[in-house]
Amino acid sequence: MPHIRVTVDGVSYDDQVEARRLLVHYLREQLGKVGTPVGCDTTNCGACTVLMDGRSVKSCSVLACQADGHDITTVEGLSSDGDLHPMQRAFHENHALQCGYCTPGMMIAALDLLRDNPDPSDDEIREGLEGNMCRCTGYVNIVRAVRDAAAVLRAQAAAPGSEPRAGVPPQVTPDQEPARQTASGGAAS
Ligand code: FES
Ligand code: FES
Repeated sequence: MPHIRVTVDGVSYDDQVEARRLLVHYLREQLGKVGTPVGCDTTNCGACTVLMDGRSVKSCSVLACQADGHDITTVEGLSSDGDLHPMQRAFHENHALQCGYCTPGMMIAALDLLRDNPDPSDDEIREGLEGNMCRCTGYVNIVRAVRDAAAVLRAQAAAPGSEPRAGVPPQVTPDQEPARQTASGGAAS
């Protein structure tokens, strides 16, 4: 089986994976990152979206072995020391979810959008999230949440010495040395 070394939510893993294993199944079943749901398994819904090196990918369309050497951020890596990421807080405060199934992918895709466009219009937010489907909300509050999160992230970025910028959660800033774990989940020395 192929061997991969991958950083997920700031923790480095050395693992063996089946060559055909999808990244989303590796995250959920091998690492227990069940915050990333599987909606369709056919690259349509966006529920499984994660950041790979800061860019959004649908993890049901990426093989785990393709993540070798890369940095993955899931929704579980957005908060820091119990503090919600501004994107998470904005979704909460704007009631931008109902069942919540689409929410992890929506937030991750929105962070990728804000990385390129920190001050998007509502139309640009809708266009940026066109690969992510929601069956419940009608999208209005999702757009509001992304707009609010964008404003908070812009204010943070303007503050002296601020970190992080949009799309780069604090756990994966380059100057942080991640802990290392083995395939069994134990910390490596
Ligand atoms: S589960 Fe990946 S796009 Fe739907
Ligand atoms: S909140 Fe239910 S799918 Fe979006």
